[in-house]
Amino acid sequence: MATDTDIAVAAHYAAYPYPARNPADEAKRLIEGSPSRLAEIEHYLFDGRLPEPFRALVAGGGSGDATIMLAQHMADRKLAGEVVWLDLSPAARAVAEARAAARGLTNIRFVEGSLLDAEAAVGGGFDYVDCCGVLHHLAAPEAGLAALRAVLKATGGLGVMVYGAIGRRGVYDMQALGDVLAPQSLPPAERLAVGRRLFADLPPSHWLKRNPFVRDHLDGGDAGFYDLLLHARDRAYTVPEFVALATSAGLEIVSFIEPALYDPAAYLRDPKLKAKAAALPPLAQAAMAEQIAGMLTKHVAYLAPDARRPAAPDDPGLIPILRDGDGPALAGALRSGRIVAKHMGVEIAIPVPKLAPAMVRRIDGERTLGEIAEDLRQADAALNWPKFQAAFQDTFQALHRLNLIWLRRP
Ligand SMILES: C[S@@+](CC[C@H](N)C(=O)[O-])C[C@H]1O[C@@H](n2cnc3c(N)ncnc32)[C@H](O)[C@@H]1O
Repeated sequence: MATDTDIAVAAHYAAYPYPARNPADEAKRLIEGSPSRLAEIEHYLFDGRLPEPFRALVAGGGSGDATIMLAQHMADRKLAGEVVWLDLSPAARAVAEARAAARGLTNIRFVEGSLLDAEAAVGGGFDYVDCCGVLHHLAAPEAGLAALRAVLKATGGLGVMVYGAIGRRGVYDMQALGDVLAPQSLPPAERLAVGRRLFADLPPSHWLKRNPFVRDHLDGGDAGFYDLLLHARDRAYTVPEFVALATSAGLEIVSFIEPALYDPAAYLRDPKLKAKAAALPPLAQAAMAEQIAGMLTKHVAYLAPDARRPAAPDDPGLIPILRDGDGPALAGALRSGRIVAKHMGVEIAIPVPKLAPAMVRRIDGERTLGEIAEDLRQADAALNWPKFQAAFQDTFQALHRLNLIWLRRP
């Protein structure tokens, strides 16, 4: 039976489908991100080769970002299969459907219903389930994840995003104020008006005003403001809490995205502290990294029902794929001997081998590692496969820590 909170959540997404999207924008750009880029899924969950036909469920599909991205990627690759959008919100469905129509995508099935009843609503046998920004809005996230695990094939995997507790400091103080000053029984438009007045009136000492890492209330329009600060049911997870959630459904973390964000070594400079952190088990390192970083507003991870590993560069037949496509541009950036990334203002620098620019310049999404090695051997006859592989391994690890490179089996 629907509770008052269920009714408030339904009214919220009916008034403000999230995120706010205009179907006309599909003509200008494709929104891409983690989890659920097709090549990323292939790398992290399927050892570089997707099953075909490929069946994906987007649970809590909202206004359609992951659904549209996945369906478009599948269409671009002519990969047979379907993407099933499942959500409670008819208003969100209207937006997602209009986006699919604008792109002429015919590989999406839209189903209105609760992910808690996923099996009854959409059947089972999915290779992949996306659940981005939804579990933390359920009364029982464990039951939600268990319901998704139940529709997954044994060989399948999930891409999940939940909010990060430390990075969202201030959000829950503001939500608690909103519950009193703009009660959930009010219509959403009234709550929004009160919420906006309240936010404008907060002193600069409020943690939300001091937290530069959450921005949806500033950049996300009414839908973003409401979703961040006026949600009727929303919780956030520390890394250990997220791991416990996964474990409750019999799932293991294949990888956090980006991996470096969950590695204390990406932040610490003191060699003794670094060594102490590196001696911890991997999930304890991830928990520590979250505490050190302070800015992880969300946790994105790939999960599987077994101890699966991402594809590794151990075979000359593998094709390396650069997330951002442009080998020459990335090669130029590597000439300094390191790859530098900025996340929420924090600089993460990872050294790369001398050969990295020459290798990366040759990555075009089609050439295999063996072909790249052979090309490089023209300039240096001593560069046999074992030598190439050793140097490539280090380059790969550095880029992979920032989720900039994946592998695919032709
Ligand atoms: C914050 S939005 C996220 C939308 C989308 N996944 C994204 O990342 O853009 C949360 C969505 O979850 C949906 N939702 C909430 N509870 C649900 C449930 N039990 N079953 C299916 N969808 C649900 C809401 O209707 C809403 O569209």
